[in-house]
Amino acid sequence: MLEQITRQNLIHAGKANNVYATNSPDYLELEASDRISAGNGAKTDVVTNKGVANNQISSATFKFLEENGIPTHYVCEGSNKSSKIVKAAEMIPLEVICRFVATGSFCKRYECEDGLEFDEPFVEFTFKSDSAGDPPIDRKTILALPEKTLIEDERELNLIEYYTARIGILLSEFYERLGVKLIDFKVEFGRISSGQIILCDEISPDTCRLVDIKTGEKLDKDRFREDLGDVSKGYEEILKRVTSNG
Ligand SMILES: Nc1ncnc2c1ncn2[C@@H]1O[C@H](COP(=O)(O)OP(=O)(O)O)[C@@H](O)[C@H]1O
Ligand SMILES: [Mg+2]
Repeated sequence: MLEQITRQNLIHAGKANNVYATNSPDYLELEASDRISAGNGAKTDVVTNKGVANNQISSATFKFLEENGIPTHYVCEGSNKSSKIVKAAEMIPLEVICRFVATGSFCKRYECEDGLEFDEPFVEFTFKSDSAGDPPIDRKTILALPEKTLIEDERELNLIEYYTARIGILLSEFYERLGVKLIDFKVEFGRISSGQIILCDEISPDTCRLVDIKTGEKLDKDRFREDLGDVSKGYEEILKRVTSNG
């Protein structure tokens, strides 16, 4: 049946990804582009081959997570090297962040020391809204605003929080085997027609902080955020390690 899924019109061009309808309402084609942005679109550029690298990295990551008990939207490869077929979901407008080491916006927000290590995966939420500037949102507010956050009940929120911490543990072990330390990452979830909550969107060097364990070199979008130079090196290096099977 899946061989018959074909790409149709572009329905959304986001900051980094393009979303296409398919001939089935249950599936979408998600294409990673070479576009890069930071600071909610304040700084933008193009990184050659980033789309292919991110798609391969994200697909390998989602397959690994699925094999380890996390339900995901990944279905199969798409019509080109930068795209995949995914289950169409109603997206929950929350960015779920998991931190192992405090850095970035967390340190800015609380004026805390960069590098503080958490004992266990530290999960927090932001409200995904470009116009509101993706503000932090706590559990009480998420549950008080179901028409905004689309979270139906506390059980659903607990599940998302549990999945994210579990993804954190699985992913940090996955990257450790590749000589990479996972500092933090962001995930998004969605609800499919059966009502099931699944991991959606992407997990790539655009959405994770990844550091070479031996050298301490940054191998993620921070190279772009902080003008460290050779932005594509991070994506290519992570792709090489993820596809070499450790
Ligand atoms: N399985 C899915 N079903 C429906 N929408 C999805 C799915 N996975 C990801 N998306 C959405 O597709 C879009 C991907 O584009 P992207 O460039 O990442 O957007 P953004 O600018 O919001 O980061 C996002 O709006 C994301 O929420
Ligand atoms: Mg995105």
